[in-house]
Amino acid sequence: MKVIRTNNYEEMSKVAADLVISKIKAQPNITLGLATGSTPINLYRQMIQDHQQNGTSYKNIYTVNLDEYIGLPKEHPSSYYFFMKNELFDHLDIPKEQTFIPSGVVADLDEECEKFEQIITNVGGIDLQILGIGPNGHIAFNEPGTPFESRTHVVNLTESTIKANSRFFKTIEEVPTRAISLGLKTIFESKQIILLASGPKKAHAIRDLIDGPIDEQYPASILKKHPNSILIADNDAMQLVSTKSDTILSSDFLAR
Ligand code: F6R
Repeated sequence: MKVIRTNNYEEMSKVAADLVISKIKAQPNITLGLATGSTPINLYRQMIQDHQQNGTSYKNIYTVNLDEYIGLPKEHPSSYYFFMKNELFDHLDIPKEQTFIPSGVVADLDEECEKFEQIITNVGGIDLQILGIGPNGHIAFNEPGTPFESRTHVVNLTESTIKANSRFFKTIEEVPTRAISLGLKTIFESKQIILLASGPKKAHAIRDLIDGPIDEQYPASILKKHPNSILIADNDAMQLVSTKSDTILSSDFLAR
């Protein structure tokens, strides 16, 4: 896992956007794996801005999202479907039928999980996966202890995740307690993975990821086994890391 340290959230987003946009230009039919949450918002804004100003096209791109709450319909303002539509898809020229997000309102959730794995296979696998990380180290909704061999599955969210995500709801009682999530193995099979982290709330998770062992108690640590994974984290998120700085790249390394 390559580690790039940036000064702040804006710089983290810019480094990520430069990487993602250059991949899209090199492979205009790329399959992107996408995350929701606060972290990728500025990256998505930069992708939209680049599309509008430079005409980078998404007509032949496929997207696959990491997760969705169980019980929230598409039109619910806190659903991940709603988030993706507003924060990204409505502002690009991507055909809606090329964007895939698990549904959390189907009768048979196990069937939905299998269907989602099939969709990923049908689009040729995920070329570039974008991830955020939870304060407890989760990636997608794979909470600590999730097997590294897991595939798309139904998850019971931990108290800490429910609390962290309650900021997107009117009350904490409204936060769904279950979600559909891509599994760790599914994520690991992506050809390239970019993990983004910003802010002091992520400092413990990033310390555990960088300084800790590869262990299912730290779901993100699976990325250390991946041949093409990059962590882009800002100073606040890196503040507890003790690994020597010469193994950590600064944000201008990409320009060199
Ligand atoms: C979102 C997802 C989650 C978030 C994580 C960080 O689709 O899968 O794992 O990436 O909870 O969320 P933020 O970015 O809001 O801090």
